[in-house]
Amino acid sequence: MSLQDDRKEYLNGELNDDILSANPREMFLAWLEEYRLLGNPDSTAFSLSTVGKDGFPDSRIVLLKEIRHDGFVFYTNYNSKKGQDIAVSPNVHALFFWPEMERQIRIKGHVKKISRADSEKYFLSRPKLSQLGALSSNQSEKINSRSDLELKFNSFKSKSLDEYNCPDDWGGYCLSFEKIEFWQGRRSRMHDRIVFEIKSNLEWDSFRVQP
Ligand SMILES: Cc1cc2nc3c(=O)[nH]c(=O)nc-3n(C[C@H](O)[C@H](O)[C@H](O)COP(=O)(O)O)c2cc1C
Repeated sequence: MSLQDDRKEYLNGELNDDILSANPREMFLAWLEEYRLLGNPDSTAFSLSTVGKDGFPDSRIVLLKEIRHDGFVFYTNYNSKKGQDIAVSPNVHALFFWPEMERQIRIKGHVKKISRADSEKYFLSRPKLSQLGALSSNQSEKINSRSDLELKFNSFKSKSLDEYNCPDDWGGYCLSFEKIEFWQGRRSRMHDRIVFEIKSNLEWDSFRVQP
């Protein structure tokens, strides 16, 4: 299989200098809104990279569930590999890739757990089967077989409660960013890249970087 001739031109858009004076959070919201209109069911998926105690980065997809004034919220198991990494270092990187729009967004920031009350509220808003899935999984831990997992799932299911409690080790993190880069593919690999870096008190430095 030769991959060398797989090529495309990026022709969908451009970033003009007006964007340099934009608020990066507003800019992110505007791009996300545009992307959601395309109807991709995983439009809020992003790659989250953490660094564990072995010093190696590790990445996985999670779903953005809320945009707050101070950051982006996602939910997971606090004892998972990512949770353990975050306990060592709250410094993370997030990457959104929206190929249909020829756009990429790179985010450097740090995460904090959201309040227990907010995690519980969100947990209860999830479909019951997703709640059961979270209850049944010690995320990232070894398990002998698929059937062991299903046994756990079915034992919770057989309790057929109206409500399940949010597990103690499950909840949200809020990712506050200090650097964000918007990338728009352009013809002849002359792509646009605009970077925002925090100065202080939510004031931003913005600049263009070479493709
Ligand atoms: C489209 C998609 C969405 C996902 N959303 C989440 C999520 O919101 N939270 C989560 O913990 N895992 C999510 N996952 C699973 C993670 O990618 C990963 O397998 C899991 O969190 C375990 O990662 P860890 O062992 O590095 O902690 C998603 C995976 C995909 C492909």
